[in-house]
This record gives sequence, C-alpha cells and structure tokens, in this order.
Amino acid sequence: MKVLIIGNGGREHAIAWKIAQSPKLKKLYVAPGNAGTEEIAENIDMAAKDQEAVVKFCKKESINLVVIGPEQPLVEGLVDRLAKEGVRAFGPSKYAAQLEGSKAFAKEIMKKLAIPTAEFSVFTDAELAMDYVAKKGTPIVVKVDGLAGGKGVVVATSMPKAMEAIHLSMVKKVFGKAGEKIVIEECLNGEEASVIAITDGETVKLLASSQDHKRIFEGDSGPNTGGMGAYSPAPVVTEALEKELLMRVFIPVVKELKEQGHPFKGFLYAGVMVTGDGFKVLEFNTRLGDPETQVILPRLENDFLELLLAAADGMLNTIKLEWKDRDCVCVVIASGGYPSDFEVGKKIAGLLTAKESADIAVFHAGTKRQDKDIVTAGGRVLGVVGLGRGMFEALSKTYNAVDKIFFDKMYYRKDIGHKVARIVK
Ligand SMILES: Nc1ncnc2c1ncn2[C@@H]1O[C@H](COP(=O)(O)OP(=O)(O)OP(=O)(O)O)[C@@H](O)[C@H]1O
Ligand SMILES: [Mg+2]
Repeated sequence: MKVLIIGNGGREHAIAWKIAQSPKLKKLYVAPGNAGTEEIAENIDMAAKDQEAVVKFCKKESINLVVIGPEQPLVEGLVDRLAKEGVRAFGPSKYAAQLEGSKAFAKEIMKKLAIPTAEFSVFTDAELAMDYVAKKGTPIVVKVDGLAGGKGVVVATSMPKAMEAIHLSMVKKVFGKAGEKIVIEECLNGEEASVIAITDGETVKLLASSQDHKRIFEGDSGPNTGGMGAYSPAPVVTEALEKELLMRVFIPVVKELKEQGHPFKGFLYAGVMVTGDGFKVLEFNTRLGDPETQVILPRLENDFLELLLAAADGMLNTIKLEWKDRDCVCVVIASGGYPSDFEVGKKIAGLLTAKESADIAVFHAGTKRQDKDIVTAGGRVLGVVGLGRGMFEALSKTYNAVDKIFFDKMYYRKDIGHKVARIVK
C-alpha cells in the first residue's frame, strides 16, 4: 500500500507513526509534513489547497489511500475531488464536512435530531444579533459560523465583550466570509471531553475518549490555543455516557446524512460538555483532534492502516477495535509567547534521549530540519507522549521525558491531567 497523509502537525505525525507500523504499508508520504514525519516517511512539498497538484501526485505515485488530517481541505472538498478522479481518500465529503465547516448547519441538525445542545439562534445581521444578546444577557457564547482556526468562539462574560465579538465578526469581518453568519448560544457549565467516532457511513465505532487542555496557562487560564496537552481515557466519559452518545448522537447523525444522500465517511468528533443536566454537544469536528490523536493512537492495538482501509471501503463492520489497558498523556511544548508572537529557528536538543523509553513518543508539530539540526518552526513545537499503568505513571514518565528536551524560550504546562488527578484522589 502507498499512502499519502495530508497535514503538518502533531496529529499528522502521530497518524504517520501509527500507519508506519502496518505490515501492509509499502511507502508513506506526508504533504507537507515536518521534521518528525521526515524520519518515517517522505515529505512532499505540496499544499492541500492545490487540489490539482494532489490529484496529479496521487496518480503519478499510484497512491492507494489518502488520509486527510486537518479540516480545511475537507471543507474545501478535497475528498470529493479525489473520489471523482478515482483516488481513494478517507474523510468526509464537502457536504458532510459542513458539520464542522458551518456551526449553523451542525446546530440545525442537532435540533432536528433532538440532540442535547446549548439553546441557540443564527444571525446574518449584526443589529439583530446585538438586540438578541441585549435581551438574553451574559454570559453568552458568540460563534463564527465557518472555520476560524480555533479563534472563532468567544465566551462573553460581559455585554461589551459580546457586542465586540459580534462587531468584529460581522462588521469588521476579521474572519472574512466565515464570520458573516454567527451562532449565538447559551453558556453552559461543566466538564468537557472529546469523543471521536470512526464511520464508513453506516457502521459507527467510538475511539477511546480523551480530553484536551485548550488554555495556555496552568489551571486552565489565559487565552485559547490549539491545545497544550491531552490525556486518554477521560474519566468523565463513562461507559454509560459512551453508549448514550453513540445511540443519541453519532448513530442518528450518520443516519441523517445518509438519508440526505451524503453519507458521512471519516472521523466524527463531538466536543461534549457534561453538565449537571446530562451531556450537551458543543460542536462537531469532522476529523481527528490535535492533540487528542497523539494520546488515542498509542493506545490502539489494531493495525491503523487496515482500519482506515476498511472504513474507506464500507467494511468497518468487519473490524473490532482493541485498546491497550494503559493511560496516555501528551504534553505539548510550545514556543514562548505562543499563542501570540513567538520566535522560531531555535535549535532543539534532547530529542533522541527523550524517546529512549519504549513508552515514550515525541510527535513533532512546528519543527523543521536545518542542516544537521532540528529547529522550531511554529507555535506548538512538540508533543511528548507517554503510556503508563494509570494516569500517575503516564504523567511521571511523560514529564521525565519532557525534562530531557530543551530549546530557548520553550514553554509547557506542568499541570496536564490535573483534573484526572483530582478525580482519582
Ligand atoms: N455553549 C457553550 N457554553 C460554554 N462554553 C462553550 C460553549 N460553546 C463553546 N464553548 C467553549 O469554547 C470552546 C470552543 O468552542 P467550539 O468547540 O464550538 O469551537 P471551535 O473553534 O470549533 O473549537 P475546535 O478548535 O476545538 O474545533 C469549547 O471547547 C468550550 O470551552
Ligand atoms: Mg471545531
């Protein structure tokens, strides 16, 4: 099998690392990849936006499967384009990817299927949106309809903040077309978790649960980031909750899209909040999460390539997912200053020493090779991942490995998994 992975983050390095373990694999490409994927695959300097180039490459290299990491190419219809050209790709069509690409689309489906979610209204007019907020009061949540790279949601605790969010999105258009429509919703309180399913459009199977840490500072404070760490499993996602989510969320959504004539194939990710009043779905993503993937895949016993092929071919019912009875932790090491301004080009030391233990993997995100060195090239630089018997062992192994890595102005959170630690106590 010849496989092409699209993307360049920690998620894609983890996907490449897992696929590389498959005996079915003959050749692995990652476009554009990073210094980590370069060690196990061939990096191709190709942008997913350039669908023409991707098609040409897949035909020239006789690619058997394309795995798309990030949301943008899915929402832009890369899977449809590849399918039209006879290239097998795993991921949702442009239509199905609206579950992530349009928050209004997702909310309407949830409403139709009576999936518990925050009460909401959709607006295309700023004045009407402001009137609504004035009536509802704060706290209130303002969400850009389209993709905004994780920056499109404001949980507004004061009226001026809510008004400003509407103004920035709809009048100033800081998110371009993505923010011309907004969703305003009720503010919920509770514990968040990520539950991701794999589906071939018919069969739905849940992956192991996980929880990420979005805020930059310890104690979950400061601005949102792409994710500063994660762990799996998430104790808040009990077996009973998994069952409930499968029956009341994933199966109905997959069935609905099939009935709409656009079966959902791919990873369907539900961001859920467990409130005093049961679970609520905050959002859907239509791909694997980052850094959730980095803690889910090391726990997966199955041949990941075999799983992806089965799902792409509508044969997911033939696979039984098996999970290691281990906890997994990911600590993201970022460039100091992230998610605001940061410097790049810092030489990274200790990578080889850090991953000496079999229970440790170091997934690269913003890295690149510069002659003999590996240097920083982004905000989130590395994800150090450790497996252990129980969360405490996983945490201590992971932080031990983190201690072996150094680059100038590196920053990481020292409290990853603190919520589990609290629950376990
Ligand atoms: N109704 C709500 N009440 C309270 N907090 C919320 C609500 N909706 C979203 N949030 C908070 O905002 C965060 C981001 O919201 P959401 O997941 O919808 O946006 P996103 O930008 O699509 O995120 P991602 O980058 O994870 O896909 C959530 O993880 C949650 O912490
Ligand atoms: Mg999202």
